[in-house]
Amino acid sequence: MKILVIHGPNLNLLGKREADIYGTKTLDEINTMLKQLAKDLNVEIDVRQSNHEGEIVDIIQKSKNYDALVINPAAYTHTSVAIRDAIAAVEIPAVEVHLSNIYKREEFRHTSLIAPVAYGQISGFGDESYLLGLRAAVSITYAKKSTS
Ligand code: DQA
Repeated sequence: MKILVIHGPNLNLLGKREADIYGTKTLDEINTMLKQLAKDLNVEIDVRQSNHEGEIVDIIQKSKNYDALVINPAAYTHTSVAIRDAIAAVEIPAVEVHLSNIYKREEFRHTSLIAPVAYGQISGFGDESYLLGLRAAVSITYAKKSTS
């Protein structure tokens, strides 16, 4: 089983960026936690980060060999029809994750253009959101494989 984790814009600044909202762990530390969990669950993961909308679209379009996506689209969550359409196009289940609870924050963050095409969403558990997201991706992939 292969899972692709995609981190969107500004997430490369984690640890230094608004730590009161996003926590003190760096992206490298989060990726290390994800890789450890993947090992424990006996699944393969690849991890990508991009600050560019088109590049994220390209990454999603090239993800056909993966069983599921875990994606934190960051600010593009609220604006990107292109990322939403890319997820809909590849027909690979996507778990949308957010470190912060986007519904507790400014109103412009309450709308996710991604949620309607995601399998589900995990929001508000800090860096743990990613681990929950990976567990969800693995679990839906096993469920899919057992019915096919
Ligand atoms: C975020 C929430 C978004 O609103 C914000 O633009 C981010 C990070 C989160 O993980 O909480 O960059 O996706």
